[in-house]
Amino acid sequence: MPFTTSLTDVAAESYAGPLLIALVAQGPLPGSLAGLDARTGGALGRAYGAGDFSGKKDETVLAYPAAGPARVLLVGVGKEPTRAALRRGAAIGAKRARVLGAATAALACPAESRAAVPVADAFQSLAEGAAQGSWWFGEMKRPPEEPKPALTAIEILRGDADPAAAGRGHTVGAAIGAGQLLARGIQVLPPNVLTPARLAEAATELAGRHGMPCLVLDRAGLEREGMGAILAVGVGSAQDPRFVALEYRGGTGAPIVLIGKGITFDTGGISIKPAQSMEDMKYDMSGAAAVLGAFEAIGRLKPAINVIGLIPSAENMPSGTAYRPADVVKTHFGKTIEVVNTDAEGRLLLADALSWARKYQPAAVVDIATLTGAIGIALGQVVAGVMGNDPSFVQEVIAAGQRAHERAWELPLLDEYRDQIKSDIADVKNSGGRLAGSITAGWFLKEFVEGFPWAHLDIASTAYTDREDAALVKGPTGMGVRLFAELVLARAGA
Ligand code: BES
Ligand code: MN
Ligand code: ZN
Repeated sequence: MPFTTSLTDVAAESYAGPLLIALVAQGPLPGSLAGLDARTGGALGRAYGAGDFSGKKDETVLAYPAAGPARVLLVGVGKEPTRAALRRGAAIGAKRARVLGAATAALACPAESRAAVPVADAFQSLAEGAAQGSWWFGEMKRPPEEPKPALTAIEILRGDADPAAAGRGHTVGAAIGAGQLLARGIQVLPPNVLTPARLAEAATELAGRHGMPCLVLDRAGLEREGMGAILAVGVGSAQDPRFVALEYRGGTGAPIVLIGKGITFDTGGISIKPAQSMEDMKYDMSGAAAVLGAFEAIGRLKPAINVIGLIPSAENMPSGTAYRPADVVKTHFGKTIEVVNTDAEGRLLLADALSWARKYQPAAVVDIATLTGAIGIALGQVVAGVMGNDPSFVQEVIAAGQRAHERAWELPLLDEYRDQIKSDIADVKNSGGRLAGSITAGWFLKEFVEGFPWAHLDIASTAYTDREDAALVKGPTGMGVRLFAELVLARAGA
């Protein structure tokens, strides 16, 4: 059953289901929860009185009142709650609901807990967080290992919030939440299941549901179109590469183009990776998943703007037919690439996709990719890297990331770094060595950008995590879906 949220007028004190989650800011028990406290025989007040709870960020207390809901979970959102704090609080609540085995729950966030966050933003964040926290992938385990009922629905209590603003925010948040769940569900799939063909099928299925045109090029199509770089990366695999172009037409004017790297498994190819953590390379299609997740949100919200989604996809394998270090590849753009490392494959896919993007005469193009290990060395798991050719567009992407709390930090794409990707034999080589590895990757992409503002997001260290916390499980994060949705909605004036 898919997870959904709804907005209801049920009051906290009249909810009598399995679990009531209440987000509370640091301080005394908010006055608007007095009714609930009374209904539960003072269970909330006692948690405060015992000193077990004061609303600090990430603090939780679970009560089993004699009357009212079966359980009440208080979740602290800290002193001055922000959108990010509310989103995280909702995720903590939803994750706990799932772990407890509640099939449904209610989520309350009274005005005191929303503080200065505008109503629409608050209810958007609650819906996004609830979806994020609910996520769990158990489809590949035998049923006996997951006996509890799945969490399928959370009703968000509107309380005394303005109905129109709360409704608007919830609609946006629910659509983005669905996009995040879709992205994570694709990211998590093993590479023997999610091949380039299956990734293209997922795009076609999504496009069909939302009535969007969707072009898929198979190997013959890629050959016909001269997509030599995508073909080179995929030529060593038994799974043929694909290229997907999704179109959402909601407005007039030049479209914004979202490009996502779709390597369904990255062994490194002939320049093979070490065995340690190679299994994580199933996540090398996270950029593609982010684009699909964004399109799920866009398809639900139908903003007044045109958006194109491009997904170049291949499996990077070593074999007797694989491309080699020293090969020279002719791209869709026309420039030639000397392959010095077959593990720098993502930028080859993106080169052909960036070149293809020129067809749309786009207003702006942003690509998203698990592109370099170096981005994790530079920035860790806190922010993504961003680079581009247009300072105001880069700022627009950064601002969208801030609203989404999927933050991006700019790296300097200075002319001096260009020397590192000079080739003796071709127009450019595909690796600039270890120094400034993320920036030279950015420079490589820039070689295939012509005629539009462009930004590049490197999510290699933020697309998945091996850290379990109160809000998120280990595994795929859906990084990029919220940022893209914020970017597109702001451009649409929504
Ligand atoms: N998919 C990897 C980048 C990556 C590394 C993603 C770690 C997630 C975690 C990419 O294709 C790659 O292998 N990049 C190389 C580039 C190098 C050969 C210039 C890298 O980062 O080592
Ligand atoms: Mn690689
Ligand atoms: Zn890769």
